[in-house]
Amino acid sequence: MNALISHKTKILTGRPRIPGDKSISHRALMFGALTIGETMISGLLEGEDVLCTAQAMRGLGAKIEKSPDGLWRTYGVGIGNLQTPETPLEMGNSGTSTRLLIGLVGGHPIKTTFTGDSSLSGRPMKRVITPLEMMGATFEATDGDKLPLTVTGPEDTLAIEYRLPVASAQVKSAILLAGLNARGTTTVIEEKPTRDHTEKMLSAFGIDVQIETLENGASAISVTGQQDLQPGAVDVPADPSSAAFPAVAAALHEGSEVTLANIAISDRRNGLYLTLQDMGTDIEFTNKRIQAGEEVADIIVRGHGPLKGVDVDPARVPSMIDEFPILAMAAACADGTTKMTGLAELRVKESDRLLMVAEGLKACGVNLEMGEDWLTIHGTGKPPRGLKPGANAFIQTALDHRIAMSFLILGSVTDEPISIDDGTPIATSFPNFVKLMNELGCDIKVL
Ligand code: S3P
Repeated sequence: MNALISHKTKILTGRPRIPGDKSISHRALMFGALTIGETMISGLLEGEDVLCTAQAMRGLGAKIEKSPDGLWRTYGVGIGNLQTPETPLEMGNSGTSTRLLIGLVGGHPIKTTFTGDSSLSGRPMKRVITPLEMMGATFEATDGDKLPLTVTGPEDTLAIEYRLPVASAQVKSAILLAGLNARGTTTVIEEKPTRDHTEKMLSAFGIDVQIETLENGASAISVTGQQDLQPGAVDVPADPSSAAFPAVAAALHEGSEVTLANIAISDRRNGLYLTLQDMGTDIEFTNKRIQAGEEVADIIVRGHGPLKGVDVDPARVPSMIDEFPILAMAAACADGTTKMTGLAELRVKESDRLLMVAEGLKACGVNLEMGEDWLTIHGTGKPPRGLKPGANAFIQTALDHRIAMSFLILGSVTDEPISIDDGTPIATSFPNFVKLMNELGCDIKVL
């Protein structure tokens, strides 16, 4: 338990070094550890979630080490050669590690048990269990679909065609990873585009990934199994989901200018930035380039007085799925109403994010309404009051790093400071968050 408090501050300026992208870091370790030979990774996010992936891949037989030069190196065993781990794989708070690795090991004839913290143990795994059972894997899961969970992969993994019932890059990736060891071609059909790091990075590792656009605008993503991944190098760009916190902080402080360099910002990840522009924030994308197969840019955010409320297009949701907590903080300070719809997935993230955001904002004096899959926030054009001292002394974060960081950013504009009950989970995705935000001008302290 590590309570933190955030006090009001003035302008924010600087060029912070945003840590590596979490999704790309997980995949770099997993795919490097599936090649035979050495893969070198620079810019890896050294957050707890990613370290869980590294440890799990070691348990499955790969060698992974960090060199004194700061680079990570993986030495893999090859597709089809993963070994049964001697102990359960401990996944901490990380849903991405868990779901992707359930897919990977579920396509191999080995038995693997996954455990996690109380947040992860409450998250639904049915979404990966269902397609993997079709591929021949068998499961023993707590309450039918929760961790602790044991998966046993078949001797011969069946290639399937599967239409995703939820827009989820994790589920898409789990199936494609199982498909890597199947005989034949596995196809995932997604109606809404979700983040495509798996497809891009598998291609970069030499796998033939076919992507076909279907008549209704859906995509069919196919991999043919039992191809070898080729070792190589990955230079991980910075994480747009982490950069979202200083971006919103700058947008909320008039006179601020923050440059966020080297951010992975494809159209699968840019929804928050487009929405901030719709709300009136001055955001410039410069120095656009390709790094590790990903579109990357430097983003300059300038704060120019109150934002305005907007209706967020539900088609944009998958491209900003992790950014709704921080967007809600911006909406709470905006002039007018912000309507966010199509948010059912927020209920099953590291916490029930709709609920945690709504309860926390209400405690800070914000007027809002929440439904099963929507949130409407009525801003007044001024920051809300903040937490009244004494009453509701802490924002509850329910082991959710993004809830914790979002309310600390809100505390940088409210008259009353905002305290959160526990900042420990921030280390899962953004280990130097407090130091970096304070260097920009925030005032966040341990309570
Ligand atoms: C992720 C996909 C998203 C996102 C998560 C990371 C990934 O989850 O919320 O933080 O790396 O594939 P869903 O695909 O389940 O929405």
